[in-house]
Amino acid sequence: MTDTRPILFFDSGVGGLSVLAPTRALLPHAPFVYVADSAGFPYGTRSEAEIAARVPALLGRLAERYRPRLIVIACNTASTIALAAVRAALDLPIVGTVPAIKPAAEVSRTRAIGVLGTDATVRQPYVDDLAARFAGDCLVLRHGSADLVQLAEAKLRGEDVPPVRFEAALAGLFGQPGGERIDVIVNACTHFPLVVDELAAVAPHPVLFVDGSEGIARRIAFLTQGQSWPDSPGEGVAVFTGDADHAALAPALARYGLTRVEAL
Ligand code: DGL
Repeated sequence: MTDTRPILFFDSGVGGLSVLAPTRALLPHAPFVYVADSAGFPYGTRSEAEIAARVPALLGRLAERYRPRLIVIACNTASTIALAAVRAALDLPIVGTVPAIKPAAEVSRTRAIGVLGTDATVRQPYVDDLAARFAGDCLVLRHGSADLVQLAEAKLRGEDVPPVRFEAALAGLFGQPGGERIDVIVNACTHFPLVVDELAAVAPHPVLFVDGSEGIARRIAFLTQGQSWPDSPGEGVAVFTGDADHAALAPALARYGLTRVEAL
């Protein structure tokens, strides 16, 4: 019998599409439900208590409604704050998204790494721990940018995104003591790979941008190994929990296979 249960992706907005893309490439027949918590967006300027209360409860409702085979928290902010609580609450595999500090440390030559995330993510003890474990011999500079999240959303709505705002976000890293040595930047928010070309274009010197999306896709493929999938790729569904400009986002969502839009 064909298993039609979807893989459910969850983010505050469109950022998780950067994780959905490599997953679709590896699992072309997988049915996907992509949930953007637009009623709670943006997460990056919220408190830990708000995220910790909101995310497990909402994912519980979503799991009941969509009966997924696996959930991907395609959001660094939600993962670094609430991953353990979600895993404790739900009886199905939960894949999180955490800053790719380990791969960044593996490739940095200058031993100076930038971590670009939301304000909430870059202050998490989870990030202190990753830096201590995997980049102990590196200078790890962090910067939180709420504006980059808005820029990624605007780009996917088809709006103009002025280069000067990307420059300002990067200045938050390169302007710190030792920042001129940075040769690798971790895109520690899933929105940021969506604007990586714009970021690379204004960097003061060439840097490598890394994120965890390919690794997460491989992890999802591993965890679903041997499971059956529908014979042909189904219609991907995008679900919004609150107001969002669905019409403006529709062409971008369709590029990621999300051809139907629903409200929660
Ligand atoms: N995409 C999210 C992340 O990876 C958060 C964006 C936001 O809502 O601030 O952290």
